[in-house]
Amino acid sequence: MRAHEAGALHGDLGSRGPAWLRTPEDVNALVPQLWPRTVTRDAAGALEIGGVSVAELAADYGTPAYLLDEDDLRARCRDFASAFSGADVYYAGKSFICKAVVRVVEEEGLFLDVCSGGELAVALAAGFPPERIGFHGNNKSESELRRALEAGVGRIVVDSFYEIARLSALATELGKRPGVLIRVTVGVEAHTHEFIATAHEDQKFGFSLAGGSAFAAAAQILDDDVLDLRGLHSHIGSQIFDTSGFEVSARRILELQAQIRDARGVELPELDLGGGFGIAYTTQDDPSTPGDLAKRINKIVEAECEMASLRKPHLSIEPGRAIVGPSVFTLYEVGTVKDREGIRTYVSVDGGMSDNIRTALYDASYSATMANRRSDAEPMLARVVGKHCESGDIVVKDEFLPSDVQPGDLLAVPGTGAYCRSMASNYNHVPRPPVVAVRDGAARVIVRRETEDDLLALDVG
Ligand code: LLP
Repeated sequence: MRAHEAGALHGDLGSRGPAWLRTPEDVNALVPQLWPRTVTRDAAGALEIGGVSVAELAADYGTPAYLLDEDDLRARCRDFASAFSGADVYYAGKSFICKAVVRVVEEEGLFLDVCSGGELAVALAAGFPPERIGFHGNNKSESELRRALEAGVGRIVVDSFYEIARLSALATELGKRPGVLIRVTVGVEAHTHEFIATAHEDQKFGFSLAGGSAFAAAAQILDDDVLDLRGLHSHIGSQIFDTSGFEVSARRILELQAQIRDARGVELPELDLGGGFGIAYTTQDDPSTPGDLAKRINKIVEAECEMASLRKPHLSIEPGRAIVGPSVFTLYEVGTVKDREGIRTYVSVDGGMSDNIRTALYDASYSATMANRRSDAEPMLARVVGKHCESGDIVVKDEFLPSDVQPGDLLAVPGTGAYCRSMASNYNHVPRPPVVAVRDGAARVIVRRETEDDLLALDVG
């Protein structure tokens, strides 16, 4: 029995729906919410990105490779900036950072959120204006804080009483007056379609709202001569589709804002609601547009300010995934195809958990399509796996691929711009893939492929 027949017998195939509804046409289709906007199939059915065929890109740069649609990335930056006009959009560099992307972010008028000395170094090396940088982290070191102060970073989001003391001492020593936000744990945890609004204080980030430490942190910073308290910050989670979590977090954080006003006579001028906006990884996901998000978030903040008789603070948000995630797909070459009789077909590609750990780590769902040709072969249920020595090395758990997929075919996995290259590893000493930006018929490497020499260069024993 072929795997696709087994799938048909089992009926429900995970998030992919029943097999008998799949046609070759479905399997060749490029569902728009999954793909960067310049991606199309050419006359022969091969994918093109930015006007360049993936076969050409594979020949020139090898596989696996992360292919970045630069026009798509720029358009997503612009969509957020214009939807949230009047607010500041900080691109969350942890989702993916390199000098070329930092330059795009700057050219498109966004701000930048970094969360380590390394990310700060990339931003500064790319010439990003330091006053437009926000610096996050629950355990920033003294040397990281010093570098941020010396560079003139616009704001530092403090996360502990130790950090407040450390920052105050450094600012005094360096004669600086840094802008500071307080990261508040609002007791809301949101993941994808649902959120939980109680009892999520049990985590390492931020100052507790319920326990009173957020208020105490505000009081301590207001009493400090060198720290300039600009506002409060909350980030409730990632890959969120439902804005009700933001509603609860905005309400709770604005109650704290009112409490600070009542106790200290100060209305903090800024409010940051963090990032976390979801994207489509499969056809089952239906994310909001930046326009919808902006409308809902502004409405929530305005309503909550009115209830608490507060002036609306200057708003900022920190999207990472929703900006860079959909602009990239990973291109792999198929090496083997194994039909596990009666169960499913395993399609092995030349990368895996070292270039995309999200499936193994978070049980994340992805999609895949044949990238070098169109096929009229019957669809079969496949599992796309990598080349690592671990059975959990899965790239795409369930996908319908043409049943004639064979070694040498190219597969494209969309939605890999965020938290794939940035979380890539050298597991099994597999060098990390390059990032190739494509635009207007031209491709350029923005992060080169790692080599075995790079790996051996670290091995100095
Ligand atoms: N702001 C703060 C304070 C954050 O902690 C994060 C993400 C963001 C903004 C950006 O969130 P985004 O818009 O990209 O969802 N590795 C995980 C995601 C970890 C996110 C950590 N913080 C993943 O692959 O799903």
